[in-house]
Amino acid sequence: MKLDIKLILAGAALAAAVTLAFAAPAAENWENHCAKCHGADGKGQTKVGKKLGVLDYTNAADQAKFTDEQATKAIVEGARDKAGKERMKGYQDELSPQEIKDLLAMVRNFKA
Ligand code: HEC
Repeated sequence: MKLDIKLILAGAALAAAVTLAFAAPAAENWENHCAKCHGADGKGQTKVGKKLGVLDYTNAADQAKFTDEQATKAIVEGARDKAGKERMKGYQDELSPQEIKDLLAMVRNFKA
């Protein structure tokens, strides 16, 4: 019986490790590519984020201002102002479609 419990615990630890392995990249990518403007906490209260006037992703009203399609397009292609000046660069060359999908989920998850 003792052995069974050990096996079950080992299985649970393995499952947790696998979950972490899948969860890490989005958080890592956010930290490396996005946090400078959107903030580690998604609030956009960084020096650059404030200057650009980015949305607060913890705010439900701000989250309602864009669709998943628009968000994906912004991450893939970037965003420009009316004069054509770049506000956010596109990440299609650096991130895979799966990584972009995971980042979108992360953006949506900042909402409390
Ligand atoms: C240089 C600062 C900067 C960086 C770095 C940056 N963004 Fe943005 N992001 C912006 C700005 C500014 C906008 C608003 C663009 C506009 O005017 O429509 C924006 C818009 C978005 C949007 C569309 C919804 C919205 O808030 O208008 C999403 C989603 C998004 N960014 C996610 C990301 C992700 C994910 C990353 C990292 C891979 C990232 N951003 C990196 C500045 C940045």
